[in-house]
Amino acid sequence: MQKIWYDDRFLSDYISQGEIENYNPALSEALKMLNEKSGPGNDYLGWLDLPLKTDASQIAAIKEKAEEIRSKADVLICIGIGGSYLGAKAAIEFLSASFEDLRKPRVVFAGHTINSDYLGDLLELLKDKEVAVNVISKSGTTTEPGITFRVIRQWMEERYGRKEAASRIVATTDPNAGALRKLAHEEGYASFGIPSDVGGRFSVLTAVGLFPIAVAGIDIAALVEGAAQGYELCAPEGVDKNIAGRYAAVRNILFRRGYTTEVMATFQPQLHFINEWWKQLAGESEGKNGTGIFPAGLDYTTDLHSLGQWMQEGVRSVFETFMVLKNTNASVTVPSFDDDSDGLNYLSGKSFEQINEKAYQGTLLAHLDGSVPAATLMLQDRSEHTLGQLLYFFEKAIAISGYMLRVNPFDQPGVEAYKKNMFALLGKSGYEQQRDQLLLRTKDMSL
Ligand code: PA5
Repeated sequence: MQKIWYDDRFLSDYISQGEIENYNPALSEALKMLNEKSGPGNDYLGWLDLPLKTDASQIAAIKEKAEEIRSKADVLICIGIGGSYLGAKAAIEFLSASFEDLRKPRVVFAGHTINSDYLGDLLELLKDKEVAVNVISKSGTTTEPGITFRVIRQWMEERYGRKEAASRIVATTDPNAGALRKLAHEEGYASFGIPSDVGGRFSVLTAVGLFPIAVAGIDIAALVEGAAQGYELCAPEGVDKNIAGRYAAVRNILFRRGYTTEVMATFQPQLHFINEWWKQLAGESEGKNGTGIFPAGLDYTTDLHSLGQWMQEGVRSVFETFMVLKNTNASVTVPSFDDDSDGLNYLSGKSFEQINEKAYQGTLLAHLDGSVPAATLMLQDRSEHTLGQLLYFFEKAIAISGYMLRVNPFDQPGVEAYKKNMFALLGKSGYEQQRDQLLLRTKDMSL
């Protein structure tokens, strides 16, 4: 059953049906490159049929370990960054209670930042809690999760002793190689493998995402089933049938007209981290070779009281995709007061969702009138099936869109530049040559 819809009818003042249909050959070409594994980055296409390939025994193994952790831990610390962080965070925020105190166990994230205060606060939080750890790194060598895991591992070993700590640590990494795989083997950590043909930002439906998501109490079998439904929605030829292809075509048409930024605007706070995940997926996949649509995210109606002004009247280089939820879990209505001192009785009896829907419609019309091309991505509900369809939709759409932009959507050469400088500045061996020059350039940069 379809749970997500892409609706570009309101774009008609900007793009004609014919123009979208003109993208059918480009869609066909992109699908061919994906299906026949003939395009750039073709050794990273393991995500393409992953939801169909994930079998019951893999799900069962992840669920079994997750149940064990759920029974013994109040907190699971997930250590990872980028694709080894955002997918699980997005899924958990989308499907869980809004406040972390209402979640049991709590899944908290670390290693996605370099900050002592954050880690200090985390250790404070852990003081009277039972703790487990999931350290996630495909390469096993990423600095941020690496140094964070050192701190957490030391804390775990001091708290539980080395053997018990090891039984509470799960490593998700390359199945055969890398520093983390070696450590997991030596220390006897339970572990999951990340398929070598699935890149970080496409890995949410591997154990990278599925394990922490399962620990959070989410039905991962239904999530994968939803992704398999997404596969069907995004497989056909033709922009009239393939919603991922249509969305990819629309973004490319607008980009070529000078709309170089896409704002993904949500109207529900539970969608904030889906946006963050999408920003990585789109930005890292497309921003290269001097091209790429800049992906930005806004949280409405919150941001209508800040960046809403810019959206309405700023530089006209943005297009907008409204990502909206049809059904919330709860329904709260506005109460009535006899005195009507705030003049809001005209809203009494209305649900927050009825009001939010009008906010969405009003914003869509205002932005269209303000020369922002806008379309809508509608989600049925906050369910695993909807989320699975959505995650797969975005993966496929960005892969297609990347090929339409003539880039390799599956590499990220640009992320190395900061790392090389950082390694040289920190004195890592092998970077001696760059070090002196960089030290000169940073002499006035001390914080
Ligand atoms: O999409 C990507 O490949 C990156 O964002 C990685 O996920 C990120 O750099 C983390 O890498 P690793 O899992 O090797 O620690």
